[in-house]
Amino acid sequence: MWKFFRNKENINDTSIISVNMNNIPKHIGIIMDGNGRWAKEKNLPRTMGHKAGVETIRDIVKECSTLGVKYLTLYAFSTENWKRPSQEVNALMNLLVEYLKKELDELHNNNVIINTIGNIKKLPSVCQKELKDAFEKTKNNSGLVLNLALNYGGRDEILRAIKSMYKDLQEGKIIIDNIDDEVFSTYLYTANMPDVDLIIRPSGEQRISNFLLWQSAYAEFWYSDIKWPDFKKEHLHKAIYDYQNRDRRFGGVKHK
Ligand code: FPP
Repeated sequence: MWKFFRNKENINDTSIISVNMNNIPKHIGIIMDGNGRWAKEKNLPRTMGHKAGVETIRDIVKECSTLGVKYLTLYAFSTENWKRPSQEVNALMNLLVEYLKKELDELHNNNVIINTIGNIKKLPSVCQKELKDAFEKTKNNSGLVLNLALNYGGRDEILRAIKSMYKDLQEGKIIIDNIDDEVFSTYLYTANMPDVDLIIRPSGEQRISNFLLWQSAYAEFWYSDIKWPDFKKEHLHKAIYDYQNRDRRFGGVKHK
């Protein structure tokens, strides 16, 4: 089944793109970049950029649900983001609390499951409390898994996995000869989730920034100059359309 959308990546573009509903990426990751620059362009404080970014989250989560994406991982706060001024860190934590308070009922009604990756024990207790409520409320849903990457870093995740696997080795719970990709993946925050298929990074930067390092081995990357607060569902459609027109070979050859 195909769905047709306006191709609005370029404002003057009136062409139509067709999205194959049978080939929607199972797992999309988004590096929500450009909030600060968006605010600066408008002579606003950086925190206003993050606030506008939350509006985008709302729309994109909804659209991913509608399209049948199964996992959406949003890079909301990295292990490196603690280096930002404390006022900005606090504002981001407050936005998280506000978002959960305001959106939880609707997310739940839309069958969304809230999940996190990253070490959330280091987040302020008010964030942990809201997250706990969100996990509890949505745990029996069966729709989109909204995976919030909070205090998340790909290197940190891999190191933690190695340490915990080493412990299991020492305790004889696993044997070294049995360790393979699949076994190692079970030690990551994303255990039981498929690898990310498509990584979207707006704002013109083209790097991975410690996001889903293990899981992105065969991900398709999609970049755009649009800053996250200006990212619309039409950009998501275009990213999915481009993804569907790529030739994913996973290191093999295409069978004709
Ligand atoms: C990157 O833009 C964005 C972030 C580090 C934070 C993203 C967080 C939100 C959009 C809101 C909080 C999250 C939730 C789940 C409610 P930047 O600040 O690095 O932008 P810049 O590169 O233009 O300075």
